[in-house]
Amino acid sequence: MKKKAFSGVQPTGLLHIGNYLGAIRNWVGLLNRYECIFCIVDYHAITVPYDPLSMQEKILQTAIAYIACGINPDKCTIFVQSHVPEHTELTWILNTIAPVGRLQRMTQYKEKITKAAPLPFSLPQEDEKAAKMGLLDYPVLQAADILLYKAEVVPVGEDQVQHLELAQDLARRFNNEFGPLFPEPRTLLGSAPKILGLDGKKKMSKSMNNYISLMDSPDTIRKKIRKAVTDPIPLFSKGVVFSEQQLAVTNLLTIYLCFTGKNKEEVEEHFQGKGYRELKDELAEVIIEKLKPIQEKWRSLESQPDDIWEVLKKGAEKCRKIAGETMKEVKDRMGLLR
Ligand code: AMP
Ligand code: TRP
Repeated sequence: MKKKAFSGVQPTGLLHIGNYLGAIRNWVGLLNRYECIFCIVDYHAITVPYDPLSMQEKILQTAIAYIACGINPDKCTIFVQSHVPEHTELTWILNTIAPVGRLQRMTQYKEKITKAAPLPFSLPQEDEKAAKMGLLDYPVLQAADILLYKAEVVPVGEDQVQHLELAQDLARRFNNEFGPLFPEPRTLLGSAPKILGLDGKKKMSKSMNNYISLMDSPDTIRKKIRKAVTDPIPLFSKGVVFSEQQLAVTNLLTIYLCFTGKNKEEVEEHFQGKGYRELKDELAEVIIEKLKPIQEKWRSLESQPDDIWEVLKKGAEKCRKIAGETMKEVKDRMGLLR
């Protein structure tokens, strides 16, 4: 039997090339070697303020993005987290062994609560701004996603490493307390685990508005890349090279490298004697060319939403079977089954 791989993306809108290069592209490479389960994690997406009216549209868009990027639904299972209630059930169980202090120290939690910073004094209406329980519990839900399917590998970007360490820890704690049941999931990072945004500073992300979407038009891509921040060329520098001191340019070169399949030496050789202008012009054209087939597939899928919902329905049915089995074992171990 093949080992299981599990991963997920939040349905927060159109995906960007950071999601693609950091995660989804690597999922494609696992399709033949693992039994793959890819989730659209809507319960995670509601831990921050969101628009209920556009949620179903975003779920559909995320499913379309998976398939357009090469996640062939005939070779894996794609489903929506909230269609499989066992995710929240296992979350509750794991809550009983998850250390609160550890959750409070999670980097993403700390970043998110400082964005919605509560005032230093507490008035009842300030509850509105206070950190919510779901946000704190986010990594436990993520652990439940993975353990429910006894997944052994989890392909993600670098920002998920800390969350996955918690999932490993919770698997270990459960196994120690109630007897071995869960494999410790291994984090699988790809070759570009952290793509920076076009500001050259922060991680590329929807919320920072520093991204290229998978569906950006050629003109938008050209404009965005032209405006991308570059580092000042240091004195005596060889120009366009990968360098720890030039993170913004290194990031552009990394995106070029990922999309062309060249290695670092080949990329540096290619840009030898050239300047940032040439780098940007060529990079924009490479991105446009590589996104073209994804965008074409996207458009054809978009015109058949019923087929996509059908894929998600079948996926949920399959996952409920596996999840139900795991929950029986979990409850049995914990003395909750008669
Ligand atoms: P999210 O959009 O936060 O649900 O992320 C979905 C997947 O994309 C996760 O595996 C992330 O680690 C990955 N990811 C998100 N942003 C980036 C980025 N800028 N660089 C690399 N991977 C990323
Ligand atoms: N937290 C992940 C992110 O934002 C998404 C996610 C939820 C996930 N559950 C998961 C990723 C389980 C891997 C495995 O990127």
